Amino acid sequence: MGDTTRPPDPGGLPVLGNVHEIASDALGFYEQRSAEHGGVVRYDVFGTESYLVTDPEAIGQILVEEHDRFVKGEMPRERLGGLLGDGLFLAEGEAWREQRTAIRSAFFRERVAAYGDAMVDRARETANSWEDGAVVDVHAASTEYAFAVLAESLLGSDIERERETVRAASAAITDRFDTRRLTSFLPEWLPTPANRRYRRRLDALRETIRGLVAERRAADPPADPGAADDLLGTLVAAAEMGALDDGELVDNAVTFLFAGHETSALGLTYALYCLADTPEFQARVHAEVAALGSDPTPADLRECPALTAAVDEALRLYPPVHSFFREPTEPVSLGGYRVPADVVLTLSPWTVHRDGRWWDDPETYRPERWLRETDAGETVHGDDRPGPAVGERPEHAFFPFGGGPRHCIGMRFARQELRLAVATLLRRVRLEPVTTELSLQASVNTRPEGPVRVRALTRDEPLDPDEPSDTS
Ligand code: HEM
Repeated sequence: MGDTTRPPDPGGLPVLGNVHEIASDALGFYEQRSAEHGGVVRYDVFGTESYLVTDPEAIGQILVEEHDRFVKGEMPRERLGGLLGDGLFLAEGEAWREQRTAIRSAFFRERVAAYGDAMVDRARETANSWEDGAVVDVHAASTEYAFAVLAESLLGSDIERERETVRAASAAITDRFDTRRLTSFLPEWLPTPANRRYRRRLDALRETIRGLVAERRAADPPADPGAADDLLGTLVAAAEMGALDDGELVDNAVTFLFAGHETSALGLTYALYCLADTPEFQARVHAEVAALGSDPTPADLRECPALTAAVDEALRLYPPVHSFFREPTEPVSLGGYRVPADVVLTLSPWTVHRDGRWWDDPETYRPERWLRETDAGETVHGDDRPGPAVGERPEHAFFPFGGGPRHCIGMRFARQELRLAVATLLRRVRLEPVTTELSLQASVNTRPEGPVRVRALTRDEPLDPDEPSDTS
């Protein structure tokens, strides 16, 4: 703790600080600040002292080595508190630890593998709904797909009855954070028509969840959160053992819907967009998944290094969560600078994933960078086996799911979902680019400004005769 120098402060306007630059192009602003002033640099938003941290070592310190000196803090709570309440995403300290311990069994390998069928079935339906040669908006299709998978994993067979309430709430949540709508900047308590609609739909969702919880309690739920069949079952069991109160239970159901829907949808959108744009690599992934002989199971994914590389490279170039926040609870030393307590630290996967110090040709989609040959001449995904994937890249130069004890609890779910979806789709269609340039907005997540179009051409090779060719 010998550092006394404060991080560089390139300044901004009085009072407003850097609001203007952030509102017009937050991602560009972060990239420029980091390139010009290094791994820890100050900026201000309406008088809130903030620091952009892009030094991978400092990121590891915040998320892993010294994680207990940092909290999520006010910033995410102000934005998301009305929605996520006391659920896992915003909980702090002991309350967070207790919840995470109780819920984590829902994301153990075998449990996540059990969601594999839903992930493949819904992707098959998506592919079968595309006519040969149709131009499809993969953002809309991925949003629908990720909703179907998550809703089924969250509520199991109860989703059949409750689909419309959950869908309406999910769409309202996405709209609420759409920065193209001016209303998204207004506080939630203002009784604008958009806010009233949002409230109504969220209240209906909470009411539905409370009703389902009561039914499951009456039906004698499993006592062990790890033995439940769906996420709600895990939450009910966790509440029965005293790890969650009833309010936290409902907040967590909403939390999963929020944290797992748009993020996965965006991951799939960008993976499909990038593959459409790189026909050679798409052909390589197709050859790999066609060789499986049938639609993939979660266990098959270990044999699919090119597919894994395709998804990881999309998560690098277009991380669905472009930035997230922490606050130090005491003064800390970061990247050789002294940073005071209670300021906002912005950790930005977007900026670090595009830093030329860690990535060759950082703005290009190059999935090959994740692959390497073993001595036996086998191609493997670099991060699945010992040895660096790309030169001497530091550990936190790639962190689309955060890191340390608070890393994304849905990471295994999402990586499995994205790979199963891409594999199932590419076994049926070849994608060609239509949208040639992406325009992005730094909303809560990294969203496309408009439709992301690709052309889907039906492949003529036969699928496994046992597989349904058309379930629509
Ligand atoms: C590609 C998809 C996804 C991405 C990129 C992503 C990204 C992230 C990131 C960066 C964090 C850490 C935020 C922080 O430290 O402040 C996080 C946390 C979280 N994610 Fe994900 N996520 C994805 C999918 C999912 C899914 C599918 C679920 C649930 C089914 C989920 C549930 C959560 C929850 C509950 C947290 C909070 C964990 C905690 O604080 O203990 N996420 N996610």
